[in-house]
Amino acid sequence: MSYDGMVATHYSADKGEGLGQAILDALTADGVDIDNLTLMDIAPVDAFHVGGWEATERMGQALDLAVGMKIVDLGSGLGGTARQLAATHGCYVSGVDLTGEYCRVATMLATRLGLADQVSFHEANALDTPFPDAGFDAGYTQHAAMNIPDKAGLYAEAARILKPGAAFCVYDIAKGPGDSAIFPAPWARDPAASFLATMDEMVEALRGAGFAIESARDHSEQARAIFRQRIAAMDSKGPPRLGFHLMLGPIHREMTRNQMRNFQEDRVALVEIVCRKA
Ligand SMILES: C[S@@+](CC[C@H](N)C(=O)[O-])C[C@H]1O[C@@H](n2cnc3c(N)ncnc32)[C@H](O)[C@@H]1O
Repeated sequence: MSYDGMVATHYSADKGEGLGQAILDALTADGVDIDNLTLMDIAPVDAFHVGGWEATERMGQALDLAVGMKIVDLGSGLGGTARQLAATHGCYVSGVDLTGEYCRVATMLATRLGLADQVSFHEANALDTPFPDAGFDAGYTQHAAMNIPDKAGLYAEAARILKPGAAFCVYDIAKGPGDSAIFPAPWARDPAASFLATMDEMVEALRGAGFAIESARDHSEQARAIFRQRIAAMDSKGPPRLGFHLMLGPIHREMTRNQMRNFQEDRVALVEIVCRKA
């Protein structure tokens, strides 16, 4: 299978083209009025990264976003981050993602939330985006680089499409100091689809692409607390109707437990690097 096919198959393995409807059905079953959706209604499923809404808000502050800015999201998934930043900071966000179904669902959700004129989603590889040189005021990638072997290429593409002086944030799962990660994990069913780098390697690759590093932080302790809570809730109440199992299938429970161990045993780390294009 091609690299693109491997990523898309992992992320939309369960529902395929029915993902949008499955999300709307889960919301309806939870008593949500899907004709009057709010960002918070879909937050449990459309922020596919550790820390969800709070992590994105912290990133928005670090990027110093302002009304009218043009932002790029590399690996935009279901578009929760793009919609949140557009709604809370008044900026315009263009996302790219390899998983076509995610781009279509992201667009459908943006339309339902009245944000279609502020966000757009393009099916493309983050290494080769459809955007012109130096068009964006800021950019970010959240939890996508662990599927991307060519980190230097990813950050070089970010540098190409950002304006000089633009801020860029990498919020990702990194390789930790412990043993190799346990699979299946939320980003890969087996090691063949996983390309973790250490935070130091990411920092070096960003410098090599022409970024000056402003901060590099490890948020793994927060990740451990989040996974402890998530597993306790799963064990006491069962999985929520609206959750990542809609995308990843029933294997998601095993992935969540493995990811808890990955963090507890320092096999992976949660890192946030803020940098600026020279
Ligand atoms: C765990 S999800 C994170 C989605 C989103 N950033 C978020 O935080 O909600 C990882 C996403 O990265 C996308 N992805 C992986 N490799 C990619 C690549 N080379 N180019 C574009 N998207 C990619 C996947 O399709 C998937 O939607």
